[in-house]
Amino acid sequence: MPTISIRSVSKRFSNGFEALKGIDAEIRSGSFTVVLGPSGAGKSTLLRLVNGLETPTTGEICIGDETVNGRNLRHIRSRVAMIFQQFNLVDRLSVVTNVLTGRLAHRSWIGSVFYLFRKEDIDIAQEVLSRVALTDKAWSRADKLSGGQQQRVGIARALAQQPKVILADEPVASLDPISSEEIMILLREIRDQDGITVVVNLHQVELARRFADRIIGMNSGKIVFDGKPEHMTPSVLRTIYQREGIEDDPSLDMALAYA
Ligand SMILES: Nc1ncnc2c1ncn2[C@@H]1O[C@H](COP(=O)(O)OP(=O)(O)OP(=O)(O)O)[C@@H](O)[C@H]1O
Ligand SMILES: [Mg+2]
Repeated sequence: MPTISIRSVSKRFSNGFEALKGIDAEIRSGSFTVVLGPSGAGKSTLLRLVNGLETPTTGEICIGDETVNGRNLRHIRSRVAMIFQQFNLVDRLSVVTNVLTGRLAHRSWIGSVFYLFRKEDIDIAQEVLSRVALTDKAWSRADKLSGGQQQRVGIARALAQQPKVILADEPVASLDPISSEEIMILLREIRDQDGITVVVNLHQVELARRFADRIIGMNSGKIVFDGKPEHMTPSVLRTIYQREGIEDDPSLDMALAYA
């Protein structure tokens, strides 16, 4: 299983805005890392760079011994699965078809275009649906499911990809507390049972504390904390959540409520 190495990475967008300012981190294989930080800190940008959806302006990202760049994107995508806040399912397709799209990264373009799936793919889809307890919904239209169920389809799709790494960008931000808990438990189980490296962007401090074995705190494009959950003191939380020029910051109050 590969380590993710983020080396001196910065990202400046075409409008001149610098969203990441010299990020360094090694994310060990099989670890469960939560990236925490206020809105605009650069959390999504960081995940998008790891998955090759964006390219760094300077520095580099490696997964194992492979540098993420335009030339090996297909291979990277077959090893790195993404889970999104808005689930990103194809609403009109069945649950099982959505899960099968997770196999596309492993198939030839022609198979992909015509959605040709082999028996092996269908077996994988069935197995992952049973892992997320959605076997009975396999033939339901994706948009007929609850939010929590849709996110479980998102997880099943990621698992169908048989990835080495799962990147989840605010996977529970659209869910109620009980579904959020279920999703976090599932992600932890996947790390524990499959040894898949999991990186989750969150803004819920309390979930980060309970589920992460490492927390990376970001503010304004920089890493301002990197350590174990038990080392995330109230003063660390203030550093992560402080926003210049904003007094009575509600996101800071929310973070400190759990400190
Ligand atoms: N394509 C882009 N062009 C210009 N600026 C961008 C682009 N994408 C993101 N940004 C800016 O970069 C900063 C970081 O964005 P990012 O989405 O990574 O933050 P985030 O930590 O994920 O925030 P949130 O918690 O709101 O999701 C923000 O100020 C955002 O406006
Ligand atoms: Mg984001």
